[in-house]
Amino acid sequence: MSSARDRLEIPGDDHCLSDAPTATTDSTALREVLACPRCDASLAAAGAAWRCAGCDVDFPRVAGIPWLFAEPNAALGEWRGRLHFSLQKLERDRQTVAASLASALLRPATRARLETLERATRNHGERLRALLAPLQLEQHSASYETHLALRTRLPSDQGLTTYYANIHRDWCWGSEENDASLAALDASLREAPPRRALVLGAGAGRLAYDLHMRTAAALTVALDFNPLLSIVADRVTCGETIELYEFPIAPRGDAAVLRKLAAPAPARAGLAFVLADAHRTPFRRRAFDVVVTPWLVDILPERFDVLCARVNALLGDGGRWLNFGSLSFHDADPAARYGIDECRAALEENGFGDIAADEREIPYLSSPASRHARRERIVSWSARKERDVKKVPRYHALPEWLVRGTDPVPLSDAFRGQAAATRIHAFLMSLIDGRRSIKDMAKLVVEQRLMTTAEAEPALRSFFIKMHDDSKRGTTY
Ligand SMILES: C[S@@+](CC[C@H](N)C(=O)[O-])C[C@H]1O[C@@H](n2cnc3c(N)ncnc32)[C@H](O)[C@@H]1O
Repeated sequence: MSSARDRLEIPGDDHCLSDAPTATTDSTALREVLACPRCDASLAAAGAAWRCAGCDVDFPRVAGIPWLFAEPNAALGEWRGRLHFSLQKLERDRQTVAASLASALLRPATRARLETLERATRNHGERLRALLAPLQLEQHSASYETHLALRTRLPSDQGLTTYYANIHRDWCWGSEENDASLAALDASLREAPPRRALVLGAGAGRLAYDLHMRTAAALTVALDFNPLLSIVADRVTCGETIELYEFPIAPRGDAAVLRKLAAPAPARAGLAFVLADAHRTPFRRRAFDVVVTPWLVDILPERFDVLCARVNALLGDGGRWLNFGSLSFHDADPAARYGIDECRAALEENGFGDIAADEREIPYLSSPASRHARRERIVSWSARKERDVKKVPRYHALPEWLVRGTDPVPLSDAFRGQAAATRIHAFLMSLIDGRRSIKDMAKLVVEQRLMTTAEAEPALRSFFIKMHDDSKRGTTY
């Protein structure tokens, strides 16, 4: 199988370079921009891996894609966990469909729909397993419940399939949405054509591919931390066709549609995918002249100002930050949920000027197989780096007491509140014995002095409504 590695390091490789410019200059292109995500020193090629001699750490390749997480083994373990979880979840979904199918009372059309869904769900699991075989899943074993209970270091709301629809949008649904994304950047790309571009949070890779194919950039690096999206992007842009199921939100026809995912043409030399964390980018300072953040700035947990400083560091003098997507920050602190004017002010404070911002409405995740579709009013900006700013500290996903495991767990107000709520929840759940009613339980809660008589019954009812709803809903990861 060909990969970005081939595209970059094997000049004249005919898997993906059929009519591409020669890749002889590209063998050093990635090396020139890479730096250790732990200490910022240069990386050296070490066989198939990249190596930081100072940290004594090898960064492997997974499916041919450089795996440049600061803790490469921990990240591998986490993504294995997410894959394992996704496969278990799919199998549970399949079993639920199979259980419905066992009923003798189904209409023929319902039976046919469920049979299709069951077959597709099983087959989808096999396809995902095969595609992600390079993660070496067999090195992992844990139960579904363990995965639900343990929240690992990658953000817990970012699962393997969180942006799964993007794969189909990027490589199968047609050009409307992809063209609209590129159009949001078009004027800036014409005004300042990139030589070295970085797409942060590149997802399934279409925008990075389009940018690379429509400009003369010598190097376009597409960074994401999701191996499913990056592996599909890498393989498709090398000219492969991949088949994966789409499960439309509101099916117009079949509940599962087997899609052929393909790029319009193999990518020319110089398009590279890397798997890494956007908070700890594995790049030298000033490595790029364009950084693009499509639909990213508002989903990262760090404050926007910090991201501004990080993007600043990645850009050379006069380099441009091109952004587009929504501004839907969800920080716990309302002060951090910026609007466009606050973003502009943060950009200026962090060394950017000549800021041109725009708004436009575009179609968003409108599958031809679904009745569901969105339109989003996106914000885009182009901002020029005018000066360096103070380096921000390295990102730490978790506090030290959690990483080391030897310091005391802090008794914060939030933890105290959560502990009390958990004790009450555990007590309520222990009362479920298949015989007690809500009224019986309310009496026990009052006896335990957990609540007053007036509070107990309504509180129990709303607690059980939530449990009832949760039990009906598929849990996401
Ligand atoms: C809303 S999606 C946008 C994807 C793509 N840019 C697009 O427009 O289709 C956000 C992307 O950012 C990636 N992402 C989120 N947090 C990240 C992080 N800390 N490091 C790297 N990628 C991240 C996700 O995996 C996902 O692909």
